[in-house]
Amino acid sequence: MYQVVFLAGLVALASASPAAQGIDFASINAAPSPSVTGPPVSVNSQSFNYNTASANAAGSAAVTGIASASASGSQAANSKRNFSPSTTTQKVSTGTATTSSETACATVPEAGTSCGFIKPENSCAVQPDGYGPHVTPDTVAAFTAYPEFHTQAKAAKAPAGYTRTFADLDGSLSGSTYLGLYTLQSYDVSLCAQHCDSTALCTGFNIYVERDPSLNPSPNCTLPSSITNYKCTLWGSNVDAIIATNEGQYRGQFQVVIAGSDGFTKTNTTTPAQCPGWQQPQNCGSYAHNHPSTCIGTAFFSGPYDPLLCASYAQAQNALNSKSNSWKQWMQSYNALQCNFFNAFMLKKNGRPLGTYCGLYTQSYGAGEATYSPGWQGSDYWSIESSWGFSIINGARSW
Ligand SMILES: *[C@@H]1O[C@H](CO)[C@@H](O)[C@H](O)[C@H]1NC(C)=O
Ligand SMILES: *[C@@H]1O[C@H](CO)[C@@H](O)[C@H](O)[C@H]1NC(C)=O
Repeated sequence: MYQVVFLAGLVALASASPAAQGIDFASINAAPSPSVTGPPVSVNSQSFNYNTASANAAGSAAVTGIASASASGSQAANSKRNFSPSTTTQKVSTGTATTSSETACATVPEAGTSCGFIKPENSCAVQPDGYGPHVTPDTVAAFTAYPEFHTQAKAAKAPAGYTRTFADLDGSLSGSTYLGLYTLQSYDVSLCAQHCDSTALCTGFNIYVERDPSLNPSPNCTLPSSITNYKCTLWGSNVDAIIATNEGQYRGQFQVVIAGSDGFTKTNTTTPAQCPGWQQPQNCGSYAHNHPSTCIGTAFFSGPYDPLLCASYAQAQNALNSKSNSWKQWMQSYNALQCNFFNAFMLKKNGRPLGTYCGLYTQSYGAGEATYSPGWQGSDYWSIESSWGFSIINGARSW
C-alpha cells in the first residue's frame, strides 16, 4: 500500500515567559510519544509531504501569551554550563492527522478490490515487491544466516556527502524523526540516498533486508512462504545504532525479521534552509544557547529537525508582543519583548533524537557563545545535535 502522510502531527510544548530558560526536561518527559516512529507493518511505500503552512501553524501554536525577557538591556553571554531547569507552564497542541489519498477509479471496481487491483491489505492478498532472493529452506534461521545479506551490507559504500554510522545490524530504525519508506529492487544505497536528498528535512537513511510474508497472513493462510524486501527509510536527524531497535514482529504466525541494516547520515554537514526574515544560520554544533536573562521563551516540537518551527514561533511571538502596550515603552536599541535571535536544535535523550527545541532571545549571539550541553539530568543523558543560531534580518518585520 502506498501512503502519503502530511507532516503535521506535531506536538508543541511551550514554556511560558518570563521564567523560561534552558531546557524544560520535566515537560519533555511528560510529553506524549509520537504516533509514528517507523513504517507501519504491511505498508511498502510511505512519503511525507512537507507543508510550510502546517509548520507555520505548529510553530505559531507554541505562543501562549505575551512574553518578555527579564533583562532590561542587552547582556553579555552567559557561559554557565549547568543550571537547574525552572518550573514552567506547558501547553500541548496536536496538529491534523495522517491522511492517505485514493484517486477515483476509471470504471466501477470489482468488490474487494481497489479499482480492480487486489488490495494488499485484504486477507491472503499477494504482497507486492519481494525483489530479493528466495531463501531456502524458508526459515527465519536461514534468512538470518543468508551470507549475501551480510556481505552486501558490510561492503556498502557511503554515497557522496554521507557517512556510514552502523553496518549489518539485525534491527531497523525506530524513533521520533521518521520521514518515510521506499521498497527498492536491490540493496541500492545510492537510490536510498537520492530519496533522502529529494525529501525535505531528510538528513539520514536506513537500508535493510526484510523477511516478509508473500500473502497477507490471515486465518486461511496462516503461514505463507516468505519474500525478501529491500527497504529504505528516511530520517530527519542523525541515524545511530542506538535506535536500530526494530528486530521485526509476528504477522499472525509469520515471523518478520531484518538483516543487513546499514545507517548513513549527512546531518553534521547539512546547513538548514534559510528561514524567511532570518539571516543565514550559524552552526553551533552540539552546544545550545542558554542566556536566561534575555530568553523570551522556549518550545519543543517532537519530530524531524525543522528550524522553520522555531522561526514561526518567534514570528508569532513578536506579532503578539508588538500589540502589547509595553512594546512602545522600550528604547529602540533594546526591547525585552522582541525576539531578535533564535536557537533551533535537535534534542536527544539517552542518544535518541526526540525533536526540535527552540529558544527565543532578545539579542543576537555568536556561535561561540553557545556553550550549553545538558548532560546527565537524574538518570537520563541529554545531548544536542544540529544546533543553529538565527539572527533576524533588520527591518524585515513580517509581523
Ligand atoms: C476462508 O476460506 C473459506 C473456504 O474457502 C471461505 O469460505 C472464507 O470466506 C475464507 N475466509 C476468509 C477470511 O477469507
Ligand atoms: C557529528 O558531530 C558530533 C559532534 O561533533 C560527533 O560526535 C559525531 O561523531 C559526528 N557524526 C558523524 C557521523 O560524523
